[in-house]
Amino acid sequence: MNIQIINGPNLNLLSVRERSIYGGVDFEVFLTDLRKLYPAIHIDYFQSNVEGELIDKLQEVGFTYTGVLLNAGAYTHTSIAIADAISSINTPVVEIHISNVHKREAFRHTSLISSACKGIITGFGLNSYRLGIESIITS
Ligand code: DQA
Repeated sequence: MNIQIINGPNLNLLSVRERSIYGGVDFEVFLTDLRKLYPAIHIDYFQSNVEGELIDKLQEVGFTYTGVLLNAGAYTHTSIAIADAISSINTPVVEIHISNVHKREAFRHTSLISSACKGIITGFGLNSYRLGIESIITS
């Protein structure tokens, strides 16, 4: 079983960026613990601040991997191109958010990618990614 985690813009700054919203844990540290929790699953990680690189990664893994966890960051709210990429691949994509986007500014309440995704997990901190893995392995 292969799961690809894709993080979009500014998520490379986790532990530095707006800690009251996103927490103080570095994603790479979290990832080490996540891989230990699921030793039987191959978990790949990719982060980019560039929209086209997120699309390239979706296309690269989207016909062979078991699932994708995608936190598209602010592109969630703006990117038809990422929504189209998700619709174009076979692998199910779970939309992930660390914060509860519905408790935040109105512009974060709209996701252009949700309708192309299998489901959405939002608001559980970094635990949203673990719940995303659970959603893939239990379905
Ligand atoms: C986010 C929420 C988005 O609105 C924001 O632009 C992000 C992070 C989250 O994980 O809570 O960059 O996707």
